[in-house]
Amino acid sequence: MSKTIILALLLAQIITLAFAASSVTCGTHPLLNKVQSSVNSLIATDTSGKAKTKSDALFKSFTNAKPSSKSAADLGVCSAYAGQNSCCDKNIVKLIDQAALQKAKPIQTKSTVFQKFTNIYAAQANKLCSKYITNGPVTADAILKNAALTSFQALKTSQATCKINFAKALTSFTRGALCTVCSGVDKVNDYVNAQGQLKVTQDSVNQFVSATDTAATCFANIFTGDAFKATINELNGKYISDATCASSVLTKIQTVFTNKIIQNSDGNGGKLCKGTTVFGNNAACESLLQGDANLESNNSRLLRSEDDEMFRLLDASAAPDAVVDPSGVSVYTTSSTDSSIDENGSNISTSFDNVSTTSSEIIKAALALISLLALAF
Ligand SMILES: *[C@@H]1O[C@H](CO)[C@@H](O)[C@H](O)[C@H]1NC(C)=O
Ligand SMILES: *[C@@H]1O[C@H](CO)[C@@H](O)[C@H](O)[C@H]1NC(C)=O
Ligand SMILES: *[C@@H]1O[C@H](CO)[C@@H](O)[C@H](O)[C@H]1NC(C)=O
Ligand SMILES: *[C@@H]1O[C@H](CO)[C@@H](O)[C@H](O)[C@H]1NC(C)=O
Repeated sequence: MSKTIILALLLAQIITLAFAASSVTCGTHPLLNKVQSSVNSLIATDTSGKAKTKSDALFKSFTNAKPSSKSAADLGVCSAYAGQNSCCDKNIVKLIDQAALQKAKPIQTKSTVFQKFTNIYAAQANKLCSKYITNGPVTADAILKNAALTSFQALKTSQATCKINFAKALTSFTRGALCTVCSGVDKVNDYVNAQGQLKVTQDSVNQFVSATDTAATCFANIFTGDAFKATINELNGKYISDATCASSVLTKIQTVFTNKIIQNSDGNGGKLCKGTTVFGNNAACESLLQGDANLESNNSRLLRSEDDEMFRLLDASAAPDAVVDPSGVSVYTTSSTDSSIDENGSNISTSFDNVSTTSSEIIKAALALISLLALAF
């Protein structure tokens, strides 16, 4: 090859690289800032800072990337955007997948109303009937491990499944939101309306609302009427030897849990888990299964008193930042990584090790440049 041709090729290569680096299209993707800040808040629990370093590097490459049509394999969990002019690559979607999984961990480590109920039962039994408890005091831990409590154990198993499914709904919803950054630069204006709100499909909203409703109902049913009474009576039968005292514990516990304490409702005709608060504060939904935060700190307090109602309404007032639209995106994206979600979060292991920060496109271009240089000199 003549040196002139090689130099011309070199020049073309340099221009391509420079063009790719100075492209503004990916850097102005309207969902970039929202997604980046969501990812950063999700990975903030990684105290080593490794995830943050990778995230910064990947979003920097994203900003400098040249949009190109990507295959479903390239886009991994975000494959809904395959074929669009996307700025994502396989590493940023791995980051997104792991960041979404991270949503579940802090939620699973919190006690649900079921665990709170167990704690409150133990506290009340010891307080009201200490004289009638053999081998007392009774502890929540002992109750949870007592295989002789067959109904209670069945309940423990079923509520664990509900808690896990609720967390999976939240990670899927989070993943769907994060994946929107992979939408094509040519399509994104169809996905965001003039008010800057994300357009989301009714189907994906329904999937989220349905999953969260199911979990809420599952927990609400624990505390309703005869079923709840039967649960308390089983515990009383096992731990309290005096019928009159047992009856006072039953009344007391029923009073504490008087009203339906878990409702996927904002008290104003809407859901707490709406499916349209995509990037905004969704804390009222995320803490749904925990019930009243003050439940254990004051057992005599009635749930959903006026104060609680007010608190929930304020908390739930985070404005929806998405609208349902047939041409919108799906905000419900499941992933095989969700199989690590367990009841208490201890099995959830997010790993950013396999997230590489070297962009394959830049490497390819650089390799081509090096081989041309080798030929030229
Ligand atoms: C618990 O609630 C009762 C009745 O509402 C109240 O008198 C008491 O001060 C509360 N205790 C705590 C520790 O908040
Ligand atoms: C723990 O996580 C792995 C995946 O990382 C999963 O295959 C397994 O079923 C999980 N175990 C439990 C008890 O949830
Ligand atoms: C979580 O549950 C597993 C088994 O279900 C148990 O081995 C582990 O100790 C629990 N972790 C915490 C933090 O409670
Ligand atoms: C990371 O990649 C290696 C090699 O491909 C694989 O064996 C390992 O399971 C992966 N780890 C995770 C957490 O995906």
